[in-house]
Amino acid sequence: MAWWHGSPKGTPGPELCSGGKRVRRVAFAIMFPGHTMVYPELRGRRVLLRPLSTSDFDAWREVRVRSRDWLVKWEPRPVPGQPDPATDKRAFAARCSARLRERELGTGYGFGVFVDERFAGEINISSVQRGPFQNAYVGYWVDQAMAGNSYTPEAFVVLARFAFEDLMLHRLQVSIIPRNSASRRVAEKLELRQEGTALRYLEINGVWEDHVRYAITSEDWAAKRDRYLAQWVLPQS
Ligand SMILES: CC(C)(COP(=O)(O)OP(=O)(O)OC[C@H]1O[C@@H](n2cnc3c(N)ncnc32)[C@H](O)[C@@H]1OP(=O)(O)O)[C@@H](O)C(=O)NCCC(=O)NCCS
Repeated sequence: MAWWHGSPKGTPGPELCSGGKRVRRVAFAIMFPGHTMVYPELRGRRVLLRPLSTSDFDAWREVRVRSRDWLVKWEPRPVPGQPDPATDKRAFAARCSARLRERELGTGYGFGVFVDERFAGEINISSVQRGPFQNAYVGYWVDQAMAGNSYTPEAFVVLARFAFEDLMLHRLQVSIIPRNSASRRVAEKLELRQEGTALRYLEINGVWEDHVRYAITSEDWAAKRDRYLAQWVLPQS
């Protein structure tokens, strides 16, 4: 069983906080009856990625409310009548629980992005498919006040390392509306492969929008890994 999944109570998580390659991952655990859920914390040079919990509500709400107009134009329209997690703590708690369930099932891995302990945004692996596909999708957003600092490309490299080296996925994909130049710039900085445009691909803010599709495979990761880590993750010499 992979160490970020539930492990039987009392079973130590392998390699946690040990030396060598996995020292970047600190973990904290939540006890459930019968087993321990171990969560990874993933670190870049400046960013820390960890799953959100209900205690993050105030920080999440503050950012989401303040950056609302900037964010919603790039996001699916909320389902009418559903409580808004940005204003309703129970809805936020339910959102955290849904992410926890995805993590337990191995279908998704959502992370809050933190910089100097300040909540800065989110980055998620979703729709993990195994079998011959070994594919997942990545989505991200950042606090408007913290945009332009390359936190998202850094978080992406940290997430890609987790996806390719721990989850052992083969492909990560990012889909971006053609006019979202800030997000396309992120893809460009990361040298993601542009694979074409899917027409009317996703519903964003109530409209079926075309999306440019970008990808990185484990072969690309292996070829560029050292450069990525030197540029985005390892301490600067
Ligand atoms: C796309 C997004 C996540 C990029 O995050 P980021 O951490 O700011 O990424 P970067 O710092 O690498 O900036 C990327 C580009 O955004 C642009 N940018 C910088 N500051 C900006 C700001 N305050 N407002 C808008 N765009 C800005 C610049 O063109 C920058 O490229 P540069 O570094 O070569 O100048 C962020 O703009 C965002 O959250 N946008 C709204 C939600 C969204 O679009 N999510 C992605 C959907 S696919």
